[in-house]
Amino acid sequence: MHREEAPSREQGPVVVLLGSPGVGKGTQGVRLGRELGWAHLSTGDLLREARSAGAPLGKAAQEYMDVGRLVPDELMVALLSEKLAAMPEEQGVILDGFPRTEAQASALDDALDKAGRRVGRVVLLDAPEPVLVKRISGRRLSPSGRVYNVHYDPPHRDGICDDTGEPLLHRSDDRPDAVRTRLAVYRETTAPLVGRYEQRGLLVHVDGQGAIDEVHGALLAAVKA
Ligand code: AP5
Repeated sequence: MHREEAPSREQGPVVVLLGSPGVGKGTQGVRLGRELGWAHLSTGDLLREARSAGAPLGKAAQEYMDVGRLVPDELMVALLSEKLAAMPEEQGVILDGFPRTEAQASALDDALDKAGRRVGRVVLLDAPEPVLVKRISGRRLSPSGRVYNVHYDPPHRDGICDDTGEPLLHRSDDRPDAVRTRLAVYRETTAPLVGRYEQRGLLVHVDGQGAIDEVHGALLAAVKA
């Protein structure tokens, strides 16, 4: 059983960013974390780091990520639980990309409950599918971690990072077939979590279609409300 009472003053808020691939969870999560001084935990980023480092988790996740399918729950729950346990309880946390299944949502409640914490707010970022596909197809990554978009935020020189001069990369799962799978997996497996959090009175909708600054303002207001 999870607790529904408010956390004590020492315990940092836990906010979940929910939304389709490409809706802006990463872009907004990084910015929100910086502004509020909270940790931004992106399970996609953690998996990509594990892959780059050649870690066993990265190798296990690769076959699922490349085709756009979900990495098995037991791996993801172990990863997230380890990260949360290593964090001071007073640290505010923005979860980006977790939970994505009912099993992950229950495991999150259990992990937080052990620390006397709970999910305080779930923000559903929304945008129509053609917008998502355009954003994903335009995404380019610098090895430095900076994210560009050829449609909305292009580098000064085509294909080259403004900061480091390195060539920009495509994410391996941003190919059209993997994107189709990711969108379908979101609709079938992750979107049903909306009902779970709505029932608990935790869900807030934020329109993800506007410019990055506009979405940030709405998100900040939703988190602080
Ligand atoms: P993950 O990395 O979480 O990918 P995702 O959910 O598919 O989300 P994206 O990173 O594509 O999009 P985003 O919403 O973060 O958008 P972004 O801000 O980048 O997961 C990858 C894979 O890892 C999964 O498919 C799965 O295999 C595995 N995985 C991860 N977590 C898992 C879990 N819990 N369980 C099981 N498997 C898991 O923006 C996209 C682009 O749009 C960027 O170019 C950005 O610059 C641009 N943009 C953003 N906002 C705007 C705006 N307002 N206007 C214009 N452009 C914008």
